[in-house]
Amino acid sequence: MLADQRILVIGGSSGMGLAIARAAVAAGARVMIAARDEARLARAAAQAGGATTPHRLDITDERAVAAFFDSMDHPIDHLVVTAHASSVVTGAIDTLAGMSIAAARAFMETKFWGPFVVAKHGQRKLAPRGSIVLFSGAAGTRKLLPHHTAIGATNGAVEAFARQLAREIAPRRVNVIAAGLVRTPAYDGLSEAARERMYADYATTSLVGRVGRPEDIAEAAVYLMSNTYVTGQVHEIDGGRP
Ligand SMILES: NC(=O)c1ccc[n+]([C@@H]2O[C@H](COP(=O)([O-])OP(=O)(O)OC[C@H]3O[C@@H](n4cnc5c(N)ncnc54)[C@H](OP(=O)(O)O)[C@@H]3O)[C@@H](O)[C@H]2O)c1
Repeated sequence: MLADQRILVIGGSSGMGLAIARAAVAAGARVMIAARDEARLARAAAQAGGATTPHRLDITDERAVAAFFDSMDHPIDHLVVTAHASSVVTGAIDTLAGMSIAAARAFMETKFWGPFVVAKHGQRKLAPRGSIVLFSGAAGTRKLLPHHTAIGATNGAVEAFARQLAREIAPRRVNVIAAGLVRTPAYDGLSEAARERMYADYATTSLVGRVGRPEDIAEAAVYLMSNTYVTGQVHEIDGGRP
């Protein structure tokens, strides 16, 4: 279904975005990846294979995003945004009392306002039967995660935005993936011991007994891009976490 389709993955230099780029290349798509760090982008483009092209882009810079899409001389079939500012880096996982508002804003700036701006300017290049896939996370709906007020609110905002956007730009489709814990470089800022403890705790409480792999999420992204009868949906892929 994705053969010869053009797919842009913003956040494609790492984690789930890179896995999606790889899966899309394997499905025969023509893939572009975008993020800020050029060296990491170049490495990721080589790993994704095919004729994957790297593009430097900061989605918190609206003028850069508008210029990026203006300079694109072809339509795109699917637009995937996995970019986020890691909660470990921003400090957005904390009690509300202890959290700096700047940290919460920094998280939301990339993870919510980033896709908002990308969708605003990217829709003019989106093919008439194209789709957008955005990313929220389990904390948008689950009450059991501690210290997730900022992250939960941001994820909820992404999901609400996507449902409204699906109406607004139909028949082009918009869907969201709400992932559970997935082993990606997002947690490189933690000590190895803390990271492995977090993964082990998650595996214990998830129904499938393991933490997620980027490839689990890439499979779902390929499905959402391919199935032309799915829109306005939030797809939870979390190993069955209660
Ligand atoms: N990993 C998890 O356990 C988990 C759980 C639930 C939800 N999620 C969500 O799933 C999505 C993917 O997460 P991940 O763990 O795969 O991420 P990741 O490995 O940390 O990769 C993040 C990507 O976003 C890019 N990026 C960051 N800021 C950017 C900006 N301003 N403009 C453009 N690109 C930017 C990064 O590259 P540069 O830094 O070079 O720009 C990188 O390519 C995110 O929305 C995340 O919140 C993750």
